[in-house]
Amino acid sequence: MLSFLQKAARAGLGLLHRPLARAFGPAENPLNHLGALIIFFCWIVLISGIWLLIFFRTSVSGAFESLEYLTHEQWYLGGIMRSLHRYASDAAIAALFIHIVKEFAFDTYRLKRWFSWVTGMPLVWMVFALGVTGYWLVWDELAQYVAITSAELLDRLPVFTDSMAGNFLTDAAMSDRFFTLMAFMHLVGLPIFLVFGIWLHVFRLSRPSINPPRRLMAGTLLCMLVLSFVFPAVSQDKADLEMATRSVDLDWFYLHVYPLVQITSPGVVWLLLVGISCVICLAPWLPPGKIAGPAIVDLGNCNGCQRCADDCPFGAIQMQARSDGRKYEREAVVDADLCTRCGICVGACPTATPFRSHGDLVPGIDLPELTAADLRETIRSVAATLSGNDRVLSFSCRGSSTAKKLKGAGEAVVELKCMGQLPPPFLDYVLSRDLADAILLTGCSDGRCRYRFGTHWTEDRVTRKRDPRLRKRIDESRICRAWQDYPQYQGSVLKQLEALRDSLANEPAGDEVVST
Ligand code: HEM
Ligand code: SF4
Ligand code: SF4
Repeated sequence: MLSFLQKAARAGLGLLHRPLARAFGPAENPLNHLGALIIFFCWIVLISGIWLLIFFRTSVSGAFESLEYLTHEQWYLGGIMRSLHRYASDAAIAALFIHIVKEFAFDTYRLKRWFSWVTGMPLVWMVFALGVTGYWLVWDELAQYVAITSAELLDRLPVFTDSMAGNFLTDAAMSDRFFTLMAFMHLVGLPIFLVFGIWLHVFRLSRPSINPPRRLMAGTLLCMLVLSFVFPAVSQDKADLEMATRSVDLDWFYLHVYPLVQITSPGVVWLLLVGISCVICLAPWLPPGKIAGPAIVDLGNCNGCQRCADDCPFGAIQMQARSDGRKYEREAVVDADLCTRCGICVGACPTATPFRSHGDLVPGIDLPELTAADLRETIRSVAATLSGNDRVLSFSCRGSSTAKKLKGAGEAVVELKCMGQLPPPFLDYVLSRDLADAILLTGCSDGRCRYRFGTHWTEDRVTRKRDPRLRKRIDESRICRAWQDYPQYQGSVLKQLEALRDSLANEPAGDEVVST
């Protein structure tokens, strides 16, 4: 059931991916920057909100008029700021929804990675509370509807002694103090909690991506500006508590739950909201999964170079003072609670080299479920199945749909926990020991890697931008990198393989592979 839902979510995201990649380009595809986009939308909301605040009167009698002034008299600035405030808030909700679906679809929330998922839930509540209190402040008919329905919801909680709904019986009963409280919540209280919540949400991640690429920011801001000019945000009629609200135009991004209060009851709505939130919070352990051991440091082979700590996407490695009396200053220490068992640290370790002729292959850091020694053995045995003069050995992430596709086509595939687990000397080993004529590296495209930086670091290591770099003697044209996006497009990996074989066939005779 879980894998069916995840497959369906991946296919759904795949449908969104192509038009977005076409509009924004592959590197700026919004699907790869959702968390950062939500933060960017929050910035727009904050900046436009500050402008609104300068003119906003926090009283029952003044709120509506002050916004009318901004919308109609100062439409060229105040009106645009108001529209940006609304559209950026809506965009934040849309991005938030897709962010949750994406993390679920690519299974980046389970077991050791529960923290960001669980801390995300209070963020959802805060964002919705911000939207609801914001609509309240406009004090138009929609605000009246929101205020009365929210009061019905709050009255259902065993918290308030007096009826909240009593505040909205007449204009006289509606006090400025209550209104100011809402303004305080919207303008100060909730934003402070939100900032703290976002910090908590990402603080366990190494190098969290909190700023989208510039062109993406410019593109989305431009779209919102155009929308603000063409469809400026306006108020509905002024609230009048003596009259029952007629039909109101809802903002479905924020207020979709409100009609349910009338259709069912406040109790049912609370049950639904709290129930869904609890299930989402428990999702990382549903069903309970088994997890292999964390990465292990072998001090006898660790020289304290820090590359593993720099490359670990989850901040699971700390460099500490040497404890074994050897000449090096520091040693790597793994925090088992943070380690997701991705193996990216092994790919970063300079001691993970298959060329050792004596002693066991034990690098400074290793993954018990697929050690560097196991990897060398697997490479040897899979490569032994190849023959002819266009032998291509493929590397792929374990269990990925790309690996399945290649295996289904009868290709020789070595599977890794994550592509980032592959130390570049292993590529050197394959080509220089003539185990294959060429190598295909394939996995998820950057921004979609299950372990965040696996593709990014592999790409940088192979193109010699990041240590450990591929040795210069290796002919790069023999290594094809085919990073795939969504499952729908994985047919292209076979085309890339074909192109690689064509290039081998067209090589001038006598072109030799460098050997050790
Ligand atoms: C205001 C709302 C939110 C903001 C601003 C936000 C922002 C972010 C950012 C910036 C990242 C880091 C992306 C990266 O560098 O890889 C992230 C990761 C993540 N977020 Fe959110 N997020 C929000 C809400 C949520 C919610 C509601 C959930 C789920 C219930 C969620 C689940 C996750 C997960 C699972 C990760 C990945 C952690 C990992 O890779 O181990 N987020 N978020
Ligand atoms: S296996 Fe992954 S999460 Fe664990 S220490 Fe290594 S790089 Fe970090
Ligand atoms: S990369 Fe390897 S040698 Fe360097 S600190 Fe980490 S475990 Fe030690």
